[in-house]
Amino acid sequence: MADDPDVNDAYALKSPEDVKALYQTWAHSYDTAFHDGQGYQLPREVAAGFLAGNGRGPVLDVGAGTGLVGQHLRAAGINPIDGVDLSDDMLRVADMKGHYRHLMAGDITRPLSLKGEPYAGVVSAGTFTFGHVGPGALQHLLDVADTGAVFAISVNAAHFEADGFGPALEALSDRITDLNFRQVRIYDDRADEAHRNDMARLVLFRKA
Ligand SMILES: C[S@@+](CC[C@H](N)C(=O)[O-])C[C@H]1O[C@@H](n2cnc3c(N)ncnc32)[C@H](O)[C@@H]1O
Repeated sequence: MADDPDVNDAYALKSPEDVKALYQTWAHSYDTAFHDGQGYQLPREVAAGFLAGNGRGPVLDVGAGTGLVGQHLRAAGINPIDGVDLSDDMLRVADMKGHYRHLMAGDITRPLSLKGEPYAGVVSAGTFTFGHVGPGALQHLLDVADTGAVFAISVNAAHFEADGFGPALEALSDRITDLNFRQVRIYDDRADEAHRNDMARLVLFRKA
């Protein structure tokens, strides 16, 4: 793998160990080379979807990474925000920004342990994608959310189809309500040509 990873490296990950190794290398340049350099705009879209659904704190940011979603939510007055991520290295960058109450190392493909009150909101950008997390994690997020909690979760559009998010959401229909979708661009025009028009589905719902 090259010194500066990119989205192609991220899509090719096969295990939690791969994820940790990639993001250990990427954490220091993620905000500058990826967010700024490639015009990665999904965190802003997720925050906007959450706010449009009248989301409020406490919020769990799933796959919080370097804290880009938290940055947008805090700017809009949302508080408190907790984050969970597999990568300690990414969380260290998020921690330095000071937007989060608690940052926890954890694997969302396994049940999460809830330490305080259930969450009134759950957000996630860029984590439900190739090489990362499939629809099986949604049940664990519902388990730590309060009734009526607002969810705004981005899913890479091709991954949505390939990994069966439609049937998985259907199977969760007794646990979720007000389900709707928005199609959003993951990057703006700064992105490399190969990914410039990559799309995500913004999955918006409430816990029933
Ligand atoms: C593309 S980054 C997105 C980070 C941030 N949400 C953003 O939009 O900038 C994906 C993040 O998902 C995390 N991740 C991948 N698999 C995970 C898992 N099973 N449990 C928790 N976090 C995971 C990675 O460590 C990484 O920080």
